[in-house]
Amino acid sequence: MPSVSQKGLNMPESPIRKLVPFAERAKKRGARVLHLNIGQPDIKTPQLALDAVKNNTIEVLAYSRTEGSETYREKLAAYYAKNDIDVTADDIIVTTGGSEALSFVLGSIADADNEIIIPEPFYANYNGFATSSGVKVIPVVSRIDDNFALPPIDEFEKLISSKTKAILICNPGNPTGYLYSKEEIQKLAAIVKKHNLFLVADEVYREFTYDGVAHYSILQEPGLEEHAIIVDSVSKRYSMCGARIGCLVSKNREVIATAMKFAQARLSPPTYAQIAAEAALETTPDYFDEVKAEYVTRRNLLIDELEKIDGVKVARPKGAFYCIAALPIEDAEDFAQWLLEDFRLDNETVMVAPAAGFYATKGLGKNQIRIAYVLEKESLKRAVNILKEALKSYIG
Ligand SMILES: Cc1ncc(COP(=O)(O)O)c(C=O)c1O
Repeated sequence: MPSVSQKGLNMPESPIRKLVPFAERAKKRGARVLHLNIGQPDIKTPQLALDAVKNNTIEVLAYSRTEGSETYREKLAAYYAKNDIDVTADDIIVTTGGSEALSFVLGSIADADNEIIIPEPFYANYNGFATSSGVKVIPVVSRIDDNFALPPIDEFEKLISSKTKAILICNPGNPTGYLYSKEEIQKLAAIVKKHNLFLVADEVYREFTYDGVAHYSILQEPGLEEHAIIVDSVSKRYSMCGARIGCLVSKNREVIATAMKFAQARLSPPTYAQIAAEAALETTPDYFDEVKAEYVTRRNLLIDELEKIDGVKVARPKGAFYCIAALPIEDAEDFAQWLLEDFRLDNETVMVAPAAGFYATKGLGKNQIRIAYVLEKESLKRAVNILKEALKSYIG
């Protein structure tokens, strides 16, 4: 039999993939599974985005421009201006989700054997994009005891070598919910300037910041124009994960010109989805006020209830819709599987994501889980109660 590639063999599996058959079996056996494991929001997509697709009069579903439609990029530039990010349509390449933006960015800035430093725990798919680009992820540990704040700058400096090309952050963070402050972004700015590196920020959760704290983008930081690359997406912003529209944004002309070549190879981003994403930009601020109020209520409920459970430690998220909780157990993967196989409360159980898969350093996060608060309040309340009762029974 012909053999598959070594690169393919090295591609990491999703950290929750192993648990999916257990969840399916639980459902087949009649149990209700409350999903705290996925980043699929249950929030309704803005109606105007759905209507824009329904009501359009396209007769030929043609390719769009490689960099994305002109009108969409113009409106995106206006959206960034509202967020105090000064870019033009020429600084933006529309992509098939933030995912494609991530792979274009890695392809554009790093060669095989180059290194990218990423604070861990991090969005697990960064491993996949790095592997397919042949780039090595070098983790720098952020800690639950510090609420996952930016690790000290000398921890980064220790890891920088001639192979290092970039620091990649996710702000606000998946899976931590951590929101980097302006001061932390400035520390990163100083280090990338000093070592002549790129600073890549995955800002797909930009709007989801709580407690009155504003998001500070790397492109708001003066002097970072040649270094900063933003990865963005409509998936979470407008609850449009299935649209598959994202973008990469940079003032660095060489980065944009290089990423364009990757974009040309896949011809264009999807046409209908750009129409939906363009319309979504007309979403009024009250949509976000409502959505944010809902997430804050859920976060408060979740964190307050988790903190009441004996031995559970949780980092209070300041953004996105995830949190990491450390449990009084040894192996969160075993616990997550056991929840699906053996534990029921009124015929319900929960599915959580073991957090070890979000760390690159072996052995870290073994007793941690990631919880996505993408369930409405009543279900979330039941889910935390299930976790509480399950822990009692599991620990025995
Ligand atoms: C941090 C982060 N970045 C990027 C993505 C990719 O999103 P998409 O490809 O749907 O835009 C996700 C999706 O969950 C994410 O959580």
